[in-house]
Amino acid sequence: MITLAPSILAADFACLGEEISEVEQAGADWIHVDVMDGRFVPNLTMGPLVVEAIRPHTKLPLDVHLMIEQPDQMIPTFARAGADWITVHQEVCPHLHRTLAFIREQGAKAGVALNPATPVATIEPVLDEVDMILLMTVNPGFGGQAFIPAVTRKIAQTARLLQERGLTDVKIEVDGGINHDTARTTAAAGATVLVAGSAVFAQPDRRQALTAIRTAAEA
Ligand code: DX5
Ligand code: ZN
Repeated sequence: MITLAPSILAADFACLGEEISEVEQAGADWIHVDVMDGRFVPNLTMGPLVVEAIRPHTKLPLDVHLMIEQPDQMIPTFARAGADWITVHQEVCPHLHRTLAFIREQGAKAGVALNPATPVATIEPVLDEVDMILLMTVNPGFGGQAFIPAVTRKIAQTARLLQERGLTDVKIEVDGGINHDTARTTAAAGATVLVAGSAVFAQPDRRQALTAIRTAAEA
């Protein structure tokens, strides 16, 4: 079973509530929220106030992807705002074990994200603290970028590692350049949660877009 998480980064910010209701009705499983601080990544997007504002507009889990430095100080705020999943980047967490445990203490599911250049081995010691591994399939910062094919090997490697450790409940999420084409290859390699921004929100028919991605991934 594949989880589809449309990223609202590609939605119309002037009517976010309606955009989210539309993709919920069109078959989305989660809503992916891209938080950027202009430091870890060269772009600024949204913060906890937006999470709080969209929370009443959907019953779907909110999947909050923190592309920010020093995420620890913001984790309780995002959890209170209604984040169900909180994912931090390995590259900005010197005390990753503590940070992941802290996310769970705040009542959210804990995710860890890896940039394309960050090896999977860097999170091997903390796998017991993790509910989801997010493998970036582009360099984070912007929607609409091209999928980096070299990450496909990393997906398979992660799936193998989780299998070996008996951690088959841990999700593998891919994010960046996911469309019906890359959905097929990433799901075949072991991805279980697919984030898609432009391939959903930039399409006139969101139901058709989600169906195309799901059909390709589950083929
Ligand atoms: C990139 C973000 C992604 C982005 C994906 O930094 O983390 O979630 O919205 O957008 P697409 O699907 O357009 O590549
Ligand atoms: Zn994201």
